[in-house]
Amino acid sequence: MVWGMRWEMEWGIRGPGGVAVFPLMLLVLSGLAGARGGVWDLRSLSCSFRTYCECDFRPDLEGLECDLALHLAGQPLARQLVTKAVRDFVQDPAPSKPLVLSFHGWTGTGKSYVSSLLVRYLFQEGMRSPHVHYFSPIVHFPHPDRIDLYKEDLKGWIQGNLTACGRSLFLFDEMDKMHPGLIDVLRPFLGPSWVLFGTNYRKAIFIFISNAGGEQINQLALEYWRLRKDREEIRLQDLEPAISKAVLDNPRHGFWQSGILEEQLIDLLVPFLPLRRHHVRHCVANELAQQGLEPLEPTIEAVVDSITYFPEEEKLFSSNGCKTVASRIPFFM
Ligand SMILES: Nc1ncnc2c1ncn2[C@@H]1O[C@H](COP(=O)(O)OP(=O)(O)OP(=O)(O)O)[C@@H](O)[C@H]1O
Ligand SMILES: [Mg+2]
Repeated sequence: MVWGMRWEMEWGIRGPGGVAVFPLMLLVLSGLAGARGGVWDLRSLSCSFRTYCECDFRPDLEGLECDLALHLAGQPLARQLVTKAVRDFVQDPAPSKPLVLSFHGWTGTGKSYVSSLLVRYLFQEGMRSPHVHYFSPIVHFPHPDRIDLYKEDLKGWIQGNLTACGRSLFLFDEMDKMHPGLIDVLRPFLGPSWVLFGTNYRKAIFIFISNAGGEQINQLALEYWRLRKDREEIRLQDLEPAISKAVLDNPRHGFWQSGILEEQLIDLLVPFLPLRRHHVRHCVANELAQQGLEPLEPTIEAVVDSITYFPEEEKLFSSNGCKTVASRIPFFM
């Protein structure tokens, strides 16, 4: 009964003659609240309804965009793609399908970092939200011989949690280490199915992360540099086919033969570009500020210098992005 009520309230109930009951209920209850408190506070009441209907989903799009603009280094394409996709999705009260994003790129370029910012600015409780679900193959699906059990559990987990809260986020890390076949169970949840098992699944967000396509992305960034073209000009169309091919050709990727990519269930492939020295500087400055330390030039320079860059000849891109920045800082203080 409780789940049924939750679903009906989320979508509004049509009473006899097609009258929307939800606004009427809101009016009646706001009257009661006004009578009790002596004040008509419709805003706080609708907020408490939102709390009930949308769990702890509290998108702060301005905060997200501001944080990305200030702190995400060297990812103009990813920033623009993610903010537009999330804004469009969040502002649509009745999305036609869940938002499904797939992040690709070299290690340490910001894929997990952007995911964590999304979680922080979309859910009131951030990573602690009961409606944010993180999966890593090594942690959650370590035994290949238990794949059938994992499939059943994963399907049940997604179904149950979407029934509890349509506004849930599921994050699948290290997709290039996910057992083939496991992710197939997600297919029914990623499409535009109206109501499945009595639940509306269209408000969920799925994020898949992998290094697949990273080499191809790096190669294009290198070509741009060699042609003296600005990396800001790299467009999604320039990379999409190469990333898709890298995923589909990799039998160790979780999308292998799943049909998920072929059936266009992914809304957006998001490429993360390799980071250059000045981007690493940006990361060091971020990290120092985060730790409440002074951004001293010699410290920043020493950390940036301690990292290796590739290709061998040009030494353009950080070999591990900004991944080791935080752990290196203490050595240069
Ligand atoms: N583009 C970036 N801008 C600012 N900080 C970054 C960026 N990329 C990485 N960082 C910093 O480096 C840390 C590690 O990066 P992150 O975990 O996002 O890498 P990743 O792309 O997920 O790598 P992997 O593929 O190895 O998981 C982040 O927590 C963040 O502090
Ligand atoms: Mg990561």
